[in-house]
Formats: sequence, structure tokens, C-alpha cells
Amino acid sequence: MEEKDPGNVFPGNWDVVSETLLRTYELWFPQNWSPVDLPWEACDAKNFSSDEAVAQAYWLSKLALFEKSGIGAFGSAAVQAATHNFEDPTKKFLSAVAFDECRHDEVCRRACSRVCPNFPYKFKPKTTLEEKAHANIMALYDNGARYWSAFNQAWGKYPLELIFSSFFFAEIGAQLIFKEVGERSTNKVYAGAFKNITRDESRQLTGTLAMLERLAERMSKEEKSMISRQLKHGFIYLSPLLFKPMNDFWKLPGDFFEYDQKLEEIAAKSGLGVPKVEDRSEAWMKAITRHRSKIEELGIPVPEIKEIGLAGLEVSVKKGDEIIATPL
Ligand SMILES: [Fe+2]
Ligand SMILES: [Fe+2]
Repeated sequence: MEEKDPGNVFPGNWDVVSETLLRTYELWFPQNWSPVDLPWEACDAKNFSSDEAVAQAYWLSKLALFEKSGIGAFGSAAVQAATHNFEDPTKKFLSAVAFDECRHDEVCRRACSRVCPNFPYKFKPKTTLEEKAHANIMALYDNGARYWSAFNQAWGKYPLELIFSSFFFAEIGAQLIFKEVGERSTNKVYAGAFKNITRDESRQLTGTLAMLERLAERMSKEEKSMISRQLKHGFIYLSPLLFKPMNDFWKLPGDFFEYDQKLEEIAAKSGLGVPKVEDRSEAWMKAITRHRSKIEELGIPVPEIKEIGLAGLEVSVKKGDEIIATPL
């Protein structure tokens, strides 16, 4: 059998094909911000009850799962793009996104260490609520490991274009939902952090859409319908954070959702503005509707997502199917 060329980052190139992608990547510099400079005094265990503290740490640790998969996925995508000689802005844009995700994860880490030290990795629960919060996060991270293994194997199995092209879907949901979290947060740290995170996600959305436009030019109809599948996968993967967990992929404890809701409600009341499930569902619909014509213009059918009332191409996802793309 013929060996596949493993590619090389050298000689590299400084080609600029997509001006939009270049301009989007360039925005990263003036929009740079530091999580270190947030008013951290406002985020302190002494301002909250222990239930409020663990509830905030819970939601931030849930968010951190997706930020971590973002660091890994965009980081390895940057290496793949360089190895396979993609145009220069693609490589730099992907690297910048990987750093954005580090910054978002850093907000989660700092906030957890202030309100609920050691949560989740070295946390010893003392109450039932703490125990359930901890068990939920550990179950999510276990499932996350399954996602990552499949994602990592996808590089050799699927065309790079297909993997890259699915990145933008997460950004649609992320941008809108983080905007809501920022607006609803009464705590200064969370309000400020999520305003900045929303700006990062908006830039990522513009860039990933520019990448998709470029890639779609070279794709067959069949490949485009594979993207619809990826979009559906994206919804399922992000569901514990951006909707409610879909059991097509997520294998979680029986009382997961009950405690998840309880914890989110406490977090919201104590200043971390997590929107309710109904509001999240509406936000998804609105966000997809806003981008629908653009996606369809590229010849990519929007998948049907019954859970939020979205009509589109029927895509069947069997229980236990690999979910391979779409980091946050
Ligand atoms: Fe992020
Ligand atoms: Fe993102």
C-alpha cells in the first residue's frame, strides 16, 4: 500500500488567500485582554454560602470541559494546518483560537480556586450537594475522554477540510449563550469575563465561517452533507452546557440533570448569570436562524434538531456513535 505523505511544517508559506480570515486574525491583537486584570476581589468564598460557592464552581467546571477540548482541538488543528501547508492566516487564526480557549479556561480555573478551592480535581465533598456536583463533573470529564480519543483519531480518517469546517457551529451557540451569561451576571468578575469571552467567540465565529466558505468551494455535495452530520454532532456534544445532555452520546448518572438544574439555579441567583434551559433552547434557535441562509448558500443543509424545534435535513445519530468534532 502506498504510504500517505505525513507532511511537514517546512518550508511553510506566507500565502494569504482569504483576506477575511487575515483581517479576522489581525483583530486578535487589539482585542487582546487579560483574565489576570479582572476585579477578582468580587469573586471570593467569603461573599458566598458554601452551596453558592460549589454551584458557581460546578458551572465553571462544566464550561471548562469544553474550553479544554477547544484548546486541544484548535491546537492540534493549527499543527495539522501547518503540516499540510494551508494558507498562512489559517495557521495563525487557529493558534490564536487555541490561546483564546486557554484564556477562557483560565477564567474558570481562577474563579474555582477563589470560591471553591480544589474544585473539581482535588475536592473532598462534605454535603450531598457538593458530592453530586463533584460526581456530575467527574462523569462529564469521563465522557469527555471518550470524545477526545475519537476526535484525535479523526485526523487520519477524515479529510482535514471536513474536520475544520465543523468548528464554526460551536461558535454560533457559544457567542450567543456567553452574551446572555455576561448580561445576566451581577457579579463583576463574571460580567466582565463573559463580555470579553463573547467578543472572542464573535471573532472566532467570523473566522471559522471564513474558513468554511473557503473550504466549501472545494467540497463535493456528499462532503457537504457530511458537514450537516457534524453540525448535529456538535449540538449533541455541546448539549450539557448549551442545552441539556443528549443521551445519544452522554452517559451520565440517573440524577445528573436533577442536580445540574439545582446547581445552575443557585449559581444564577448568586451572580453567575447562567440562562435557564428554555432560554438556552431559544437562544440556539435564534442563533442558527440568524446564520441559516449563509450556511445554505454554501450548499450545506442545516440538520434537523427536533429538541429545539429546528427543521432541516434529517440526520440519524445512533447511540454510541463517535462524535468527532466541534470544540468550543
Ligand atoms: Fe472558549
Ligand atoms: Fe470558542
